[in-house]
Amino acid sequence: MKITEVKVVVTCPGRNFVFVKVMTDEPGLYGVGEGTLNGSELIVAEAIRHISHLIIGHDPHRIEDIWQLLYRQGYWRGGAIFMAAIAAIDIALWDIKGKVANLPVYQLLGGKARDKVMCYTHASGRDEVECEDSARQIVERGFRAVRCQVGNYGAQGIVGILPPLSPGTPSTAIYEPTPYLVNAPKLFAHMRAQLGNEIELLHDAHEQLDPIAAARMAKEMEPYRLFFLEDPLMPEHRESWSLVRQASVTPLAIGEILTSRWDCLPLFMNKWIDYIRIKPIHGGGISEVKKILTLAEPFNVRSAMHGAADIGIIGQAASVAVQSVIPNFGIQEYTRHPELAYEVTPGACELREGHLYPNERPGLGIDLDEALAAKYPYQRAFMPLLRRADGTVHVY
Ligand code: CO
Repeated sequence: MKITEVKVVVTCPGRNFVFVKVMTDEPGLYGVGEGTLNGSELIVAEAIRHISHLIIGHDPHRIEDIWQLLYRQGYWRGGAIFMAAIAAIDIALWDIKGKVANLPVYQLLGGKARDKVMCYTHASGRDEVECEDSARQIVERGFRAVRCQVGNYGAQGIVGILPPLSPGTPSTAIYEPTPYLVNAPKLFAHMRAQLGNEIELLHDAHEQLDPIAAARMAKEMEPYRLFFLEDPLMPEHRESWSLVRQASVTPLAIGEILTSRWDCLPLFMNKWIDYIRIKPIHGGGISEVKKILTLAEPFNVRSAMHGAADIGIIGQAASVAVQSVIPNFGIQEYTRHPELAYEVTPGACELREGHLYPNERPGLGIDLDEALAAKYPYQRAFMPLLRRADGTVHVY
């Protein structure tokens, strides 16, 4: 069998997604994959087009060989763009292998280690009472784990908004950490008091804190027994992770912007984290992320795969397949996709009572409707921008 073409489909059925269809010389046999990288979709699409020339004519069953070829061909290896591009192709090759074997991808990876994948989703509101209402609605839908934020991207610290510099670019939020640092623990005091101890609570600090503030946050959250505190610190601040770690017994999760085993391994070996947020579509695909979770296992690090709205239906299915089979599963982030996305990529994993179920159809069990995707062309979009009150550019 030979790969004959890699079709790249960038589409915006409610938001932008980057999908691929890897075509073969067997009539009707193809695999679907995804490499959506929020705010950088067209760059990934071009990277996929570029590297796909190297695998035309190759046997799609040789997944490991193709992964090594695509990873090592560039000399300038890795990074978010290339790893998302490799991921899209890798996921599609697993889809092909599943279709040929007439088995779902999770069977090819070793079979189910659990029946269903526990998810958390996002409660939010303008204040703690609205956030509590939002959390109660989520619990009524069957979820046992809820991420709680007042607003999003550090809304508790947003003190102003600057208009866009030019049309089609985002406005800039003015952010100060002190209001956020003071108010976030109060939110969790409220949530625990109102919701009791049966629900798991999570919080995402979105990398907005410096090391001492991150350590303080982890310590002040301790009484509220978080399932985890996510991204208290930018992963680049590696030398400061031990400070945050030693400040408390609040479980820590990072890794949604990490893209390789070399990024993840020091976090495991130093026992700085409890949950790793890497997932197939940004981590080189199913092949690489399955290996990374195996590296995590002896260090008691569990999976907590990033599942924000910018990870499409195919990417989500790849995450669910891996998390169905690994022993060290933790939790899966869940957000509902735009309604049109369910038509462009039909066959999404089923969500029931706060759990995702892997598809039982061959491969990933998802299709890509190219004609429909073409009706929703790419829309220019960027990530939110953040500055401090004195004008300094800030991360979020
Ligand atoms: Co996050």
